[in-house]
Amino acid sequence: MVFICIWLFATFFATGMSLDNGLARTPPMGWLTWIRFACNTDCDYDPNFCISEKLIKEMADHMVQDGYKDAGYEYVCIDDCWLAKERDENHRLQPDPKRFPNGIKHLADYVHSKGLKLGIYEDFGTKTCAGYPGSEFYMQLDAQTFAEWGVDLLKFDTCHSDAHDNKEGYPAMSMYLNQTGRPILFSCEWPYGELQQNLSSDYGPVRKYCNVWRNYWDVLDDFQYVKNIVKFYGDNNALFQKYSGPGGFFDPDQVIVGGIGMSHYQQRAQLAMWAMFSAPLMMSNDLRDIQNEARELLLNKYIISVDQDPLGAMATRVWVINGLELWVKPIVPKGSLAIVFFNTKIFGSGTPISTAASDIGMSNPKGYRVTEVFTGKDLGIFKPETNLTARVFTTDAYMIVCHILS
Ligand code: GLA
Repeated sequence: MVFICIWLFATFFATGMSLDNGLARTPPMGWLTWIRFACNTDCDYDPNFCISEKLIKEMADHMVQDGYKDAGYEYVCIDDCWLAKERDENHRLQPDPKRFPNGIKHLADYVHSKGLKLGIYEDFGTKTCAGYPGSEFYMQLDAQTFAEWGVDLLKFDTCHSDAHDNKEGYPAMSMYLNQTGRPILFSCEWPYGELQQNLSSDYGPVRKYCNVWRNYWDVLDDFQYVKNIVKFYGDNNALFQKYSGPGGFFDPDQVIVGGIGMSHYQQRAQLAMWAMFSAPLMMSNDLRDIQNEARELLLNKYIISVDQDPLGAMATRVWVINGLELWVKPIVPKGSLAIVFFNTKIFGSGTPISTAASDIGMSNPKGYRVTEVFTGKDLGIFKPETNLTARVFTTDAYMIVCHILS
């Protein structure tokens, strides 16, 4: 009964407030454990790959040493499976004592000492997706705990809950995070929970209370998942465009560049599309053991600048023809564009493109300076009548940035 009163009280006060943490003016960038390290908790058998303090510290070290931090990757995030199976005697969350022997505050201090930020994971329901203690009935205490530990981002999952409650529960957690006084980026799975339970989502409140929000099924290390996500974003394009912008972004899930299951072409296609969506760039890979070409891709300054463009726009899917999609995103300075051809076909030698610049959005008579993104090649000045020729390989993308001339 007491819990229910607290719940109602929180809900009541959450209504009408909004997340006011000043964060995510551009999409957050960082690293997250889930796709690559999943729920590996067996540190005796698999000490270098289990979810542990050691793993997080090693990733933080590599983020700095290998140039990711300088490129803008900032958050080092622990996903599910960091918790002990029970709360402590004061109902506080506690990390698994064997895998996080010095606690989360110590880990946050370490990550901060590297100039990075720490992200953590909890769940709105009774349990996390992997079965660890959830935040239901403890949201205020958990928000305080995270703030005391020095956590900078909370990924708040939706397993083991009734998604009808999301529209009250997520705003309540948002309010509790606000009340801590510590800026904690709020990464919600609110609309994804609704999708899983066949409910529709109202993105107005989602954007009001969350900094980033998952709204589709998990990505896996396989291009088919990337294609499904891109299709979902394309099919709902006009709706999503209304809600993406500084302070709030759609989260199509982790970036699998440097993974195992996708070709280099598929990896660059994913990263290009995520940049077009103004999506969080949360890579999930093993930074201790990553191919050079994947690292170079992750550090590609043109892709990052499209993703981090201050307008924070969601690209428009202009057309889909025979498996090839044209996406166009407005970027600064005003009138400039990022353009991606995304090829979903899985056979053949790719699709040749030959098109007037004006037909793909470059209509300004003064022209544009055009750069090919993956190679960094300067393609020169394009006028509306200039012809662009390129080949878009199967399960690949072709990306250019077009800066307007004044
Ligand atoms: C859900 C989320 C994933 C991950 C797992 C952890 O599936 O969508 O991103 O956090 O739970 O159990």
